[in-house]
Amino acid sequence: MFSRIPVSSIPVKQIAGITLPKTVANDALAVKASQAVRPSLDTLGRAWFSSNSRRGPQPRSFYRTLRPYVPGESLESVSKQTGIPVDKIVKVASNECWKTAAPPEKVAAALATKNYYPDLDSSGLAEKIAAYVNNLDSVSVSADQIVITPGSADAIIQVNKTFVEPGDEVLTAQDSFVMYDLATVYSGGTLKKVPLKDGVFDLDGLADAVTDKTKVIFIANPNNPTGTIVHGDKLKAFLSRIPEHLLVVLDEAYHEFVKSSAYTPGTQLMQDFPHNLMVLRTMSKSFGLAGYRVGYGIGPKALIAEVLKGIPPFGLTNASIAAADIALDNPTFPKEILEVLTEEKAYLYNELDKLDLRYFPTESNFICVFVPENGQAFAQKLKKLGVIVRPQPGDVLSKAIRITISLPEHNQRTIKALTQVLSDYKSG
Ligand SMILES: Cc1ncc(COP(=O)(O)O)c(C=O)c1O
Repeated sequence: MFSRIPVSSIPVKQIAGITLPKTVANDALAVKASQAVRPSLDTLGRAWFSSNSRRGPQPRSFYRTLRPYVPGESLESVSKQTGIPVDKIVKVASNECWKTAAPPEKVAAALATKNYYPDLDSSGLAEKIAAYVNNLDSVSVSADQIVITPGSADAIIQVNKTFVEPGDEVLTAQDSFVMYDLATVYSGGTLKKVPLKDGVFDLDGLADAVTDKTKVIFIANPNNPTGTIVHGDKLKAFLSRIPEHLLVVLDEAYHEFVKSSAYTPGTQLMQDFPHNLMVLRTMSKSFGLAGYRVGYGIGPKALIAEVLKGIPPFGLTNASIAAADIALDNPTFPKEILEVLTEEKAYLYNELDKLDLRYFPTESNFICVFVPENGQAFAQKLKKLGVIVRPQPGDVLSKAIRITISLPEHNQRTIKALTQVLSDYKSG
């Protein structure tokens, strides 16, 4: 019904009465004839930005070079690219859990008030999380020591936003979770990275890198993507070296999967370091709530109160609050997942050894595996066989892929695809 005409054929002055830069007029953007005379402001805005015009509102300067977070590819997207049906694709790229502790029918039943704004404060979720953490870690944190966010990725942003001034330095490891980079950029801070030592956070290196500009240190324990942990005694020694005005954030997104006796939960260390230690956790991995977005930070009351001041309203939806509440009624769910992970980890180690592939021993639900060529290229080949893994950025891990440990059938498919790609690689 509408004929499509290119914007470039519209006399410039006709567009909403605004004189547009030539770059926009030349944009290949096609609009419906009915919109041509008066395109929506949204259309104009997008065209304007995509043209890299120097005119009009400019984003903050760092947006010019900002590289957005690239999530792992979805089943649907890979299905579209490869023609393989969704149910024949294995996604072992984003450390998700193969099942959820919040069955959808239970969540749906709890959602009688979808038309009202969520009320996180009155939901009792912080109290329930505190009870779960206390039981799990043998500690006694209270609800006012907890900030709940839409995923712990957002907790990283909120903490950074609260404590980092433009010009402040944020310290972390060279190969770790990319959200520390992004959150620091958003807050105008400068990120300083210390190389990992044999795949592990180098705590001495981090302490040595502290300057009078340092404000926050992020430590992923276990680390993503290597799956390695820092030992509790080393962490304690490190914390003793760090001045109290400097915030240390232990990102324990994979806490429930750690089995090593050398590991100490950050919540236990808070007793000795009550002023400047925060712990971040998530329900995405161990409770299978990645799609609902529920994460939380635990810290000193005074610091949590500051973070809470800047939290945008209604970040968690009624569905995410309901899902978290339902999941926490089953606090042993992560243990059941861990049992499968332990068996499957042994299977994968064995198979990877047979394939002569090196990997970091992991305390998490994923394994970082070295492959003979660039991880990106290798991952593309696996994708064509219907297996989605995560290649790694950076120099040290450029020839590595991260594989989520999953159900036996998924792991077997992954190994089969790995074997195939390796054999093609050797013969080609
Ligand atoms: C180390 C680490 N921290 C935080 C997150 C964020 O998880 P979410 O935002 O789903 O809670 C992830 C996710 O992959 C992670 O690996």
